[in-house]
Amino acid sequence: MSLSATATDQSVSRLRCIACGDHPHSAGKDFRCTVCGDLLEFCFPGWTSASPDPAALKSLWLKRCTSRHDLDQSGVWRFRELLPHIPEEHAITLREGNTPLYHLPRCARSTGVDNLHAKHQGMNPTASFKDTGMTFAASSAHHGKFRWVACASTGNTSASMAAYAARGNMHSLVLIPDGKISWGKLSQSLDYGALTCQLRTDFDGCVRILNELVRQKPVYLLNSVNPYRIEGQKTAAIELLEQLAWESPDHIIVPGGNLGNSSAIGKALLEMLELKLISRLPKLSIIQATGANPFYRTVREFAGTNLEPKLEPMTANTLATAIRIGNPASWKKALRVLDATGGEVEEVSEVEIAAAKAEIGADGIGCEPASAVTLAGLKKLRHRGFVKSGESVVLVLTGHLLKDPDFTIKFHRGDLFAGTPDEGEALQTKPLQRAPLVLDADLGAVIAALDTAERNS
Ligand code: F0G
Repeated sequence: MSLSATATDQSVSRLRCIACGDHPHSAGKDFRCTVCGDLLEFCFPGWTSASPDPAALKSLWLKRCTSRHDLDQSGVWRFRELLPHIPEEHAITLREGNTPLYHLPRCARSTGVDNLHAKHQGMNPTASFKDTGMTFAASSAHHGKFRWVACASTGNTSASMAAYAARGNMHSLVLIPDGKISWGKLSQSLDYGALTCQLRTDFDGCVRILNELVRQKPVYLLNSVNPYRIEGQKTAAIELLEQLAWESPDHIIVPGGNLGNSSAIGKALLEMLELKLISRLPKLSIIQATGANPFYRTVREFAGTNLEPKLEPMTANTLATAIRIGNPASWKKALRVLDATGGEVEEVSEVEIAAAKAEIGADGIGCEPASAVTLAGLKKLRHRGFVKSGESVVLVLTGHLLKDPDFTIKFHRGDLFAGTPDEGEALQTKPLQRAPLVLDADLGAVIAALDTAERNS
């Protein structure tokens, strides 16, 4: 086990502190800058001296789609020319990435944006976008000969980490907030063999304990402060642009929790522009739940001022448990890509999230609640005129519908907001609800139900 083994080939990629610009030779245990304590990121000085030929890269990546080689079949490792080097023998892959881009015809009609697509990152091996970053960061742990990897999670990171650790013959330690993650996600980390600790705190409390732990024990930190996670997650945007024949959409919209994903997608967009793989930047917008909106508040508070932005942590609360995060680690990285791409931030209510989720479901796609903030946010951005009807929009759906069936069932039964302050507002979602009918085992009863449905359709 050695931390220096996580050092990269310095001629191509280097670690850099996002705040003070220091270039550490290798990452510390907490992946923070030893000079100023801020986050690290990878930069690629090698591209300045020998810039890769964009046409050659595009054709190489396409050619790999017909290869039988494990790494070429991964939608992450296929783009390895844009990633730091990790020796092939350490790569742990479940053939992640390769996720579909779907047109959303009904959602397009309801938002008044014809060209509306969803990049469904829930179609990854463990059913969330986390796999794209995890394949890369877990491989770096393997390269560093770690026995143990660990994360704090709202459920998807832990599911993904547990799977990749198992594939790489490593032990995994999961810290999750007790009672605040979905059963689907919890069951995954159990089945993949993680040591799963449900702590009596929230996600932010789990992060605090984990940061202490990595200082005392030889475990490798797999939260998204780990810059290898961000590198792997970049490939979602590269794959998206390849699917769009390298024509940038006008807008990409992502949910914001700990803000690793938005940072990664934004980083990829900026790097693709630098390498001339694309000729213009999409605007990257970030949507948070109102009950977990520290980033939204920061952006709004400091917009148009010359003050140095500061994030005020909050106690987060939302039924979209994946993004129940009050102190997002990567907020400075996200702010940078928001500014660089000219994107916006929005916040959406619990009822708006639930309605948007059912609408995405009605397009035959489905997603988990946190992913649905993207459609709810799009509606607001359309309303404000930031997104125009003729523009092209891609929503990044981060998790699969089956991650949180409890939410879905309660919504369709009309129970989701019962007894909460949102009960009144939720009445407007009735037309979206499709509660199951319990009938006698009788043909006549089924035909009557069918006829009623037909009349109402
Ligand atoms: N959507 C889903 C389904 C998520 O699981 C998460 C984060 C996000 C969106 C937000 O992404 O944190 O990169 O801004 N889930 C983390 C976890 C925190 O532990 O699974 P982010």
